[in-house]
Amino acid sequence: MNSIKSICCIGAGYVGGPTMAVIAQKNPHIQVTVVDINEARIAAWNESDLTKLPVYEPGLPEVVAEARGRNLFFSSDVNKAIDEAEMIFISVNTPTKNYGIGKGQAADLKFVELCARQIAAVAKQDKIVVEKSTLPVRTAESIKRIFDATNGDVKFQILSNPEFLAEGTAINDLHNADRILIGGEIETPEGNAAIEALVQVYESWIPRERIITTRLWSSELSKLTANAFLAQRISSINAISALCERTGADVDEVAHAIGKDSRIGPKFLKSSVGFGGSCFQKDILNLVYLCNHFGLPEVADYWEQVIKMNDYQKHRFAMSIINALFDTVSGKKITFLGWAFKKDTNDTRESAAIYIADELIQDQAEVHVYDPQVSPEQIKNDLIYLWTQRGVSADEAQKRFEQAVTIYSEPTEALKQAHAVAILTEWDEFKSYDWASIYASMLKPAFVFDGRNILDKEQLEAIGFKVKAIGKG
Ligand code: NAD
Ligand code: UGA
Repeated sequence: MNSIKSICCIGAGYVGGPTMAVIAQKNPHIQVTVVDINEARIAAWNESDLTKLPVYEPGLPEVVAEARGRNLFFSSDVNKAIDEAEMIFISVNTPTKNYGIGKGQAADLKFVELCARQIAAVAKQDKIVVEKSTLPVRTAESIKRIFDATNGDVKFQILSNPEFLAEGTAINDLHNADRILIGGEIETPEGNAAIEALVQVYESWIPRERIITTRLWSSELSKLTANAFLAQRISSINAISALCERTGADVDEVAHAIGKDSRIGPKFLKSSVGFGGSCFQKDILNLVYLCNHFGLPEVADYWEQVIKMNDYQKHRFAMSIINALFDTVSGKKITFLGWAFKKDTNDTRESAAIYIADELIQDQAEVHVYDPQVSPEQIKNDLIYLWTQRGVSADEAQKRFEQAVTIYSEPTEALKQAHAVAILTEWDEFKSYDWASIYASMLKPAFVFDGRNILDKEQLEAIGFKVKAIGKG
């Protein structure tokens, strides 16, 4: 196989955009075109003002500035890009199914299937098709069947190349990946040639020994497994945080102590209000679905517990606010600092903030929100989507939002006359606020609920705050 000269990526989201920007940056000889059916998103990727890119990610504007217009292009002409590319990445969303068989657990593969059908319909020359989206094991088999049934003239090689970047650190993760995983048909010469073509793309900046090649099914399953293990660590430390609160132990001290064991390691042991993000929950639910599908209910139950513990942690946090505020938050101003699911991203998918706001609003709280990167429209969409999914009419959801939620573009007004502050996202700027003046501007007793353990509890208590932090007795 000759070196690849043209790549198309279908899906210009949080993965497709940054990943292709880095591939283009590191491979100036490859033409990379990222396409999407969402024209507004493509227009935002083409914005000359780089602060308006659709994905907020430190370091991304610099990478886009270097490659865009040289060998990186964003377009909504999907067919043209498919036709011209030798290698096509599928990087579309694979959310949890919210209808039909597998509702609430299985991955919804309709967007992936549509891509496969479109590629099959358009392709006139042989193509390498790369699964970048996170997919259930053996999805490549279904894609291959679509290709074989639709377009017998063209030869397709299917590879699995799951993405391991985390939002907020995507550019660093892409530049210095722990590993690149490529699954393919290692049994055939054509399969090996396709794998080698993709290895060459990554070898431009990733050392060869960090590029792992496996069978297709191992690659697909490794992605779900990695996310399940990562989420499991958070649920494990969050479970211990509940016990710390009852016993007077400090969860950060426990995490530090166990993390020094080289077999456990220090990363991903930060107790929190609960993990969010578009993938941990959806990928574990998908794993649970697959285990049940393959007749392994005990294995399914084991992994499902990671999600249950996460739901418990979110609920526990909401209840700790209600209980501390004398068992009712009715008519009380509760200020949320942070809405994103973690710092350094504008992404709010499955953010713990959404569920905690909902619980407090059910108890008639007034929720006031400030987040440095999330737009007011996004916050509104998140809550209205949650409520309408639960059967509330669109009109009723709108009314509920207007009554219960106020959004701010700066923190001072958000905090003035509040009964309590809840830290939902660990944005660095919250640490450097003048907490003494915030205290002066709030109603007394003034409460802080630190869902991320980023503030100095003793210092806040010395100012006069009543403080509740995760896993601190
Ligand atoms: P996203 O929703 O941000 O982006 C997906 C994009 O695909 C959307 O812009 C959508 O309009 C587009 N799209 C859908 N169907 C299309 C079609 N037929 N033709 C053209 N465009 C189409 O999703 P994301 O966060 O980038 O995730 C994509 C995949 O990567 C998912 O499978 C996810 O599990 C996986 N993943 C995500 C992350 C992450 O940090 N977000 C990390 C690793 C893996
Ligand atoms: C996660 C994985 O880390 C990536 O490797 C993977 O590619 C990605 O999912 C995916 O498949 O989408 P991401 O969700 O972007 O990345 O961010 P994380 O840093 O993993 O954080 C996820 C959630 O866990 C956040 O809400 C974060 O605040 C929380 N978290 C993380 C904790 O509560 N404690 C920790 O110690 C770490």
